[in-house]
Amino acid sequence: MTTQHSSQPAAPAGQPQPATTPAASTAPSPSGGGEPAPEVLVLAATGKTGRRVVPRLRLAGAAVRAASRSSAVRFDWADPATWGPAVSGASAVYLVAPDDPAPVADFVAEAAAAGVERFVVLSGRGLEHCGPGFGQGMAAAERAVRESGRQWAIVRANNFFQNFDEDLWREPLRNGRLALPIGEVTEAFVDADDVADVAVTLLTTPDESLLGRVYEVSGPQGITFGKAVATMARAAGRSIAYTELTPEEYRAELRAAGYPEEAVTALDTLFALHREGHTAEPTDGVRQVLGREPVPFASYVARAASTGVWS
Ligand SMILES: NC(=O)c1ccc[n+]([C@@H]2O[C@H](COP(=O)([O-])OP(=O)(O)OC[C@H]3O[C@@H](n4cnc5c(N)ncnc54)[C@H](OP(=O)(O)O)[C@@H]3O)[C@@H](O)[C@H]2O)c1
Repeated sequence: MTTQHSSQPAAPAGQPQPATTPAASTAPSPSGGGEPAPEVLVLAATGKTGRRVVPRLRLAGAAVRAASRSSAVRFDWADPATWGPAVSGASAVYLVAPDDPAPVADFVAEAAAAGVERFVVLSGRGLEHCGPGFGQGMAAAERAVRESGRQWAIVRANNFFQNFDEDLWREPLRNGRLALPIGEVTEAFVDADDVADVAVTLLTTPDESLLGRVYEVSGPQGITFGKAVATMARAAGRSIAYTELTPEEYRAELRAAGYPEEAVTALDTLFALHREGHTAEPTDGVRQVLGREPVPFASYVARAASTGVWS
């Protein structure tokens, strides 16, 4: 992990990093003095960022409520009866929005009324250029926290590296072929570990100058999907093909693979956004919040390949 600009010693790659200095200062002091530890409700706690945010918050001295439909604290966007118990007593919320925008404003209002003082929203880079088929939940969350009267920060992330080994593109890669409609347009993929580090700092920092802002969070370089696949294939020591599809062919492949029509529309809309280049170039969001460079794709690939995930 690239930590040359951090004043903290690096934890092993892929492990929670020590929080940046402002975040660490919210932990109770050994003498029991100082700021009280924040109590943070983490939504989507089993998801790609949530499960990284939870241990980092604990390391920073926060009390954590890890919530989702299958977590210790049950939270279901579709069941408002689960919201109150989850949010009661929390001072901050890591908000990962549902696809459906309908419940989001009500939840944020309920959380603010229950005493939540800060919201950090996970959102998507290029959201403002997205068609109606994708991102409406994230857009609703951005709007709701801005209007909440509470502290907020928005983390607009690029596609995570971890989509390649933990999610959507894992099985196609394992099967030796990733096929997408994106061409030579690059994507500034980002490490979900970096996204989690950014979120934790924003959830816990006493530095209010970091709040009320939108952070565009990317990796250090734009990479074509073709080059990304070649890099992963090399690291896995096998052949994996990247195949270019037209948008029509992509939709047909998703349908043939059993994706529901809503997901087909969402992915189709997402790739239209990527093709327009709105997520192609790197940004300095990680540096703005953490004061260090983001993790390069090659470091992630070495780490993931060593688990045998693509072999
Ligand atoms: N993946 C990316 O590259 C990326 C990049 C930028 C932004 N985002 C945004 O991040 C968000 C998460 O997407 P993801 O694909 O990365 O998924 P994810 O976080 O890996 O997984 C989804 C999470 O949501 C929880 N969940 C699902 N349905 C729920 C419900 N009805 N109520 C409460 N929790 C529920 C799941 O836990 P349970 O099953 O236990 O409920 C799981 O923890 C989306 O808004 C996405 O647009 C993703």
